Amino acid sequence: MTDMGEDRVRHAGMRRRICAADDAAGHIRHGMTLATGGFTPSGTPKAVPRALARQMEEARQAGMPFTVRLFTGASTSPELDGGLARAHGVSFRIPYNGDPDMRGRINAGETAYVDTHLSRLAPWVRAGFFGKIDVAVVEAAAIREDGAVVPTLSIGNNKTWLDMADKVIIEVNEWHNPAIEGLHDIWAGDTLPADRRELPLRRPEDRIGETVLHVDPDKVAAIVLTNEPDLNASFRETDGAARAISGHLMEFFRHEVSRGRLPALLPPIQSGVGNVANAVMAGLAEGPFDDLVAFTEVIQDGMLAMLHSGKMRAASGTAFSVSAGASALLNREMAAFRKKIVLRQQEVSNNPEIVRRLGCIAMNTMIEADIYGNVNSTRVMGSRVQNGIGGSGDFARSAHVSIFMAPSTAKGGSISAIVPMMAHVDHVNQDVQVLVTEQGLADLRGLSARERARLIIDRCAHPEYRPMLKDYLDRAEKGVFGGETPHLLRESLGWHQRFIETGSMRA
Ligand code: COA
Repeated sequence: MTDMGEDRVRHAGMRRRICAADDAAGHIRHGMTLATGGFTPSGTPKAVPRALARQMEEARQAGMPFTVRLFTGASTSPELDGGLARAHGVSFRIPYNGDPDMRGRINAGETAYVDTHLSRLAPWVRAGFFGKIDVAVVEAAAIREDGAVVPTLSIGNNKTWLDMADKVIIEVNEWHNPAIEGLHDIWAGDTLPADRRELPLRRPEDRIGETVLHVDPDKVAAIVLTNEPDLNASFRETDGAARAISGHLMEFFRHEVSRGRLPALLPPIQSGVGNVANAVMAGLAEGPFDDLVAFTEVIQDGMLAMLHSGKMRAASGTAFSVSAGASALLNREMAAFRKKIVLRQQEVSNNPEIVRRLGCIAMNTMIEADIYGNVNSTRVMGSRVQNGIGGSGDFARSAHVSIFMAPSTAKGGSISAIVPMMAHVDHVNQDVQVLVTEQGLADLRGLSARERARLIIDRCAHPEYRPMLKDYLDRAEKGVFGGETPHLLRESLGWHQRFIETGSMRA
């Protein structure tokens, strides 16, 4: 045994379970339900998924079936989702995926996918909606003398996985600064709705539980030692569209504060995933608002920079999604960051009860919106899943102000992000108060459907598509069926059909 093992795995009984990743992966068999840590690459187990993918590939070459049902926190890493997908090793996947290979299997109908709100999965698993969990694989920074597990850079559903799984495999990753102990806040949680108590969380920085996870040592089948950072993806250079979206939002916040509709100390912000969301954080960093707080799901580079500079006072989330550089900074200065950041289970970080209580400003990225303000966050052309709804629904419905944003066009201008109607809706217009593209911002509060449509077309649509949308709306309003939300049903999905047939929505 290495010094590393003794230093990081301090529980004598569990130390005896240290083994190679291949042996650990041997506990996972065809047909099992596998629940893993990981919320973005942060905190995703590494060595065991790599070994499992190899074993699946070997089985496939030998003509033996080897698939698992895969439960996670959210997206994971190219090694876990990607590796298992490339080995054709996943029969069922829940609740969110960002990996292109896994996306390919799902859209081909090979992997059954259930797209669900991230705050709901753990309570539903505990209630038995999805059957039992055979094996859990999670990452830890250390296992203490008392057997308590110190998590790494995400919590996700790990508490429920450790509680519910028949067998547990823990990867103990020495890469993490030991000062990470104390970053997390693990709520004891309810088991069934009848036991549910109020979550006593009044401010994003409140701590309501313990700093560590617990596991029955008898269930721990294997411990694997690793020493590697998360497979972080980098953010794209902020482009003109993202910068313009951020600018429109800053103007909106300034205006709302000047009118007294938002306090100068902004309510807790939630910021979605991706490059646009990161650019909005950069806008806030340069903006006039101080003492910012975040009650959010994922803490990205932009937010970390504000916590570092002091522009943001505190942030609550369930995971980081940071580039390699930001991850190194976070690890180096963990003792200081720990005082400003709390990582929680995703059922708490995304809890609608708290989002409503805190009056969060929710800012999420969309694929497209229709002229009436309904939003599609997940299905390209209504059919192919991109990632999943993630936490956007947890926040959008309960937020004080729910904002959705995207560039006004996609795929080099051949797609308009503002369309007459969509074949798939994730967020109904009642949950969308503000829409933003690089063209402008539409404040939809208090507007009727017909008023919303005029404003969205004028403010958010790309100039190339604006006349087509106006023409559609004019004719729909005069159409034989008319109505409060006028549509021309023969045409309403024609823009998407045209793209499928010709590669462009242009007429
Ligand atoms: N029609 C078709 N494709 C579109 C599109 C549209 N209207 N808008 C974007 N796309 C495509 C892009 O071209 C890109 O395709 P590619 O992977 O082939 O390059 C892909 O969708 C992703 O778009 P991108 O511009 O890279 O945006 P992003 O990284 O900001 O992601 C979402 C945007 C909507 C996919 C992403 O934010 C998401 O998954 N949201 C749902 C979950 C969520 O909101 N989570 C936050 C909750 S806390």
